[in-house]
Formats: sequence, structure tokens, C-alpha cells
Amino acid sequence: MHDGYAYCEIRLLFFYLKSLLRKIIFLRMTKNNEWWRGCVMYQVYPRSYCDANGDGIGDLRGIISKLDYIASLGVDAVWISPFFKSPMKDFGYDVSDYRDVDPIFGSIQDFLELLKEAHRLGLKILIDQVWSHTSDQHRWFKDSRQCRSNHMADWYIWADPQPDGTPPNNWMSYQVGPAWTWDGRRRQYYLHHYIPEQPALNLRNPNVRQEIKNTAAFWLDLGVDGFRVDALHTHIYDKDLRSNPARAGNNFNNSRDVPDSNPMSFQDRIYTVNTPENIVWVEEIREHINKWEGRCLLAEVGGDNTEKDAVDYCQTDKRMHMAYSYGLVKSDMSKKCLTKTIGKVEEIIDDGWMCWSIGNHDIKRVLNRVNPHYADKAALAKYLMALLLSLRGTPCIYQGEELGLPQAELAFEDLVNPFDISLYPDHMGSDGARTPMPWMKTAPNAGFSNTTHKTWLPIPPGHVALAADRQEKDEQSILNEYKRFIAWRKGQDILLTGAFEFVEADGDILAYMRSLDDKKMLCVFNTSDSPASWNYDVDGLEAMEEVNHNASYDGKGFELAPYGYGFFRLTK
Ligand code: NOJ
Ligand code: CA
Repeated sequence: MHDGYAYCEIRLLFFYLKSLLRKIIFLRMTKNNEWWRGCVMYQVYPRSYCDANGDGIGDLRGIISKLDYIASLGVDAVWISPFFKSPMKDFGYDVSDYRDVDPIFGSIQDFLELLKEAHRLGLKILIDQVWSHTSDQHRWFKDSRQCRSNHMADWYIWADPQPDGTPPNNWMSYQVGPAWTWDGRRRQYYLHHYIPEQPALNLRNPNVRQEIKNTAAFWLDLGVDGFRVDALHTHIYDKDLRSNPARAGNNFNNSRDVPDSNPMSFQDRIYTVNTPENIVWVEEIREHINKWEGRCLLAEVGGDNTEKDAVDYCQTDKRMHMAYSYGLVKSDMSKKCLTKTIGKVEEIIDDGWMCWSIGNHDIKRVLNRVNPHYADKAALAKYLMALLLSLRGTPCIYQGEELGLPQAELAFEDLVNPFDISLYPDHMGSDGARTPMPWMKTAPNAGFSNTTHKTWLPIPPGHVALAADRQEKDEQSILNEYKRFIAWRKGQDILLTGAFEFVEADGDILAYMRSLDDKKMLCVFNTSDSPASWNYDVDGLEAMEEVNHNASYDGKGFELAPYGYGFFRLTK
């Protein structure tokens, strides 16, 4: 009897240990599968990263040669903008073959090597997927435009003209002007939300949906860790092609992805962007992607209210893992703008997860949006970095931000981006944000390329002085501050996944509390170019000196130098 009892106890203990082990394994797996939550991402724009074959355009082998550099930043994941076959009318965002690498960038073998090497270095790789449109040179569109009855006739959005021959409705394109282009063969208009060479796919068609999913499977099987889904807001249009209403009021809206100089901004785009059917499609993609373990979907979300829509797309574990909006990418980073944009997200985010960035290949670089004439660019760059890397969500650094590159001022003749050209002189500044990376101060073309011809975009002399090799040797450089901060952040669970709450602060000081379990960290920033102070009397505030930048606390209040910042642990 006694023995039997002991046997029972041992079995129970064994059972308990087994279930504990299972729980630990499950937790570790979930944790690993959720690597994207709070990791640091880095965006590479391949044309401008590094040119290995000397033709003046960056390529995959160039990226491979810089993977050590990327890993040395301490980032966890890399999003690479498109490198697929393309006529390059929109520099790769016009794809003519989803499953092949454009010869300008290299080959599939090069990509596989890149992936392998990145994984060896512990870096995850996200690739861009452009599913809202293809190139007009894609085989599908070539077939589709032949006639109204061929097998791909309804793979794109075709519509009859109005009786007077004008386009079917008032939809506008990002490039300025109607979103419709006439095709003489079909005697119909086709839709393109961007340039005419980017016809919009008909993602209501189950065959198109299946093909897109097959494309995703192709890259997931090769081992990519996820996708940045391009222009998710423009995936599915109103079925009845209803005209958009005129925009109500002339309200300033930083959350709109289109500048006021584009007449598209005159409309409330209820029938063209972020339609309810988009969510259904997103859930279908997510279900598909879930078949591969530990992969992640990051959506680009534009539209008229990008914070709200971005949050919608990443709500619950049935949609995107994360999404980024336009609020900060376009922002002047004033306290008002930061409070509004971040506040809006925090209010509604619930269990969703944002990806925050303050720059990308489409928008003027952040240093020129924020106080462009401020002399101490290094202080400004470090402050912006600390702010970005301490928000709740996954921060994404755009290549060159870690060097403090300002926007390149280009002459009209140097512009190549179709949107910049159409909107000139009041454009978004894509080309000036895409100039080649300066790697070596004294090498030809700043070490980006050994071409004796012109690089695809010029390298501004001001960028050469900021070359990576120089900054590596300077302890106080922006680059080394990035490395230090990212390394420190890794050890701060509070910043990785903790809650976020604004703390009311005086004047231009922006403050927020991050907290996790019973731990709290106060993050304080001077958003202005003048010294600032704030009376804040709280017990047990301890400065985290490693990352403090000209911010002091004397027990009664804060003093911050222009663009100073500090992180303070609450010990009580
Ligand atoms: C967003 C991309 O970031 C941009 O570069 C591109 O022009 C449009 N989507 C269209 O694909
Ligand atoms: Ca090249």
C-alpha cells in the first residue's frame, strides 16, 4: 500500500515535470516565434547599399559584403526592398517576375547565399512583396490586355469608359492625375494606383489570390523569415467602382500618406484604400503564412488615417504581425505631432503590434524634416535614435540613419523617381533619401562602387564626411552611439515589450513611462533646440548613465540640453 502510494507520487511528480517541460518548450517556442516583437529592424534599399560589380548600382553581393557591418549594429532583422525582375520604372516596385532576381541585383544563388550568411550571423531576413500591382511587363498583364475573354482577362481591374470616353470614375493616382489608363486593344481602362506601368491586380479573383500565395510559398520554402507587404492599403478596391467623395474640410492630417500638392489628397478615399474586404484578404494571407513556423508579416499601410488602419491590420493573431503607418515617417517630430501620432496608436492598439520608423526610401530623410537648420546634427540624430528605439513596438532604422545622413539636395536633372518628378518641386524627396551609402571617406564613390562612371544617384559631398569607416573609429560618433544604444536596449525587457504611457511634462519635454510587471522606466526627451527643464518630484528615480545624453535629475526636476534625453529607472 505504502509502496503503491510512493509510486503514485513519483508518477504524479513525473507527470508534473513533464508538463512543466512541455510548458517551457512551448514558451520558448512562442518566444522564438515572436522574435519580431520588439526586435530592431534595419531597412536596406539594395540599389543604394553597396555595388559589388562596379556598374554604379547596388546589388545582392554588395549587401552580402556588408552583412558583417549590419550585424555589428546589433540589429535583429533586415528588410530588403525589392530585388526581383523588373523594368525598374518604379525601381523594383514594378515586378515582372515574382520568383526571379533581376540581373541588375544578381541571381537567386546570390540571394540564397545572402540568406545563409545572414542566418549564420543571427539576422532574420524580410523581403518585400508587391502584391497590389505588377509591372505592365509581367506576363500576366501582357496576357490580360490581349482581349476581354482570355484566361487572364480578369486578373487586373478593367472597366469600360463613361459614355463620353472619360475614365470610369474619379479615382486618382499617387503619381498625380487619373488612376486609369486607356488600352486601345480592349477598349477599356485599367486601374493603377501608382504609375501606369503598375497595373493593379484584381485580388478579388481567387486565381490571383492563389498565385500570390504560391509566390509567398516559394520564398518561404527558400527560408525567408517574413515579408514586408507593400501598399497593403491599395490591395482591394470597391467592387462597384464608386467615385470617392471630396474630402470634407481642408484639415491638416499628418496621418495621410499623400502630400497636399497631389490632388489625390482632395478626396476621402473610402472606395480605394483600406476597404473592408482588405481585412478578409489579410486574414487569408496570415492563415497561409502560419503554415511556416516563425515567419512574420509586416504591412505598409497608407491611406487617409494610417494609424487607425495600421492598427486594424495588426489586431489579433489572425492578421498581420505588425504594420507601419505614415504618422512618424512624415512627421516633423514636434512634441505635438509625436503626442498625437503615438497617442492615437496607444489608445487603440490593444494586442496589436506597431512597427515604428522615422524614415524610409519614399520620404525626405528625418534630419531635414526636423529643424533642418540646426547645427548640431549629431545631437539631433542621437536624440531621434533614442526616441525611435524606446517606443512600444518594433523600430525600423532606414539605412544611413545610423550615420546621421541628411537629405541629399538633388538638382531636378538628377531626379529619377517618377513620383518626385511629377510632384516637383513639392515632392516627397525619395531620390534624396536614396543616394548611395558612404562607406569609406577616401575611396572613389565613397566606397559604394568602383565604377568610373556615374553612380545611379550622386553621392553628396556632405555624406562622404560621414562615411562609416570614419565613424567606426570615433567613439562619440552617431554610428557608435547606435551600436551602444541597441546593445543596451537588448538588456531592457521593459523597452522590448513593456507597456507605454505618456507622462505629462512641461513645455517641450516629452516623457513616457515604460513598464513591465513591477519594473518602470521613465523616458525623457527635450524635443526642442533650447535648454528645457521640468519640475518632477518623485522618489527613487535613478539615471541609466550608459545612455544618458545631456539630461540630469536632481531629485526635484530635470534639466535637459537641446535635444537631450535620458532614461530613468524607478527604484521605488
Ligand atoms: C510603396 C513603396 O515603398 C514605394 O516605393 C512604391 O513606389 C509604392 N509602394 C508602389 O509599389
Ligand atoms: Ca551593381
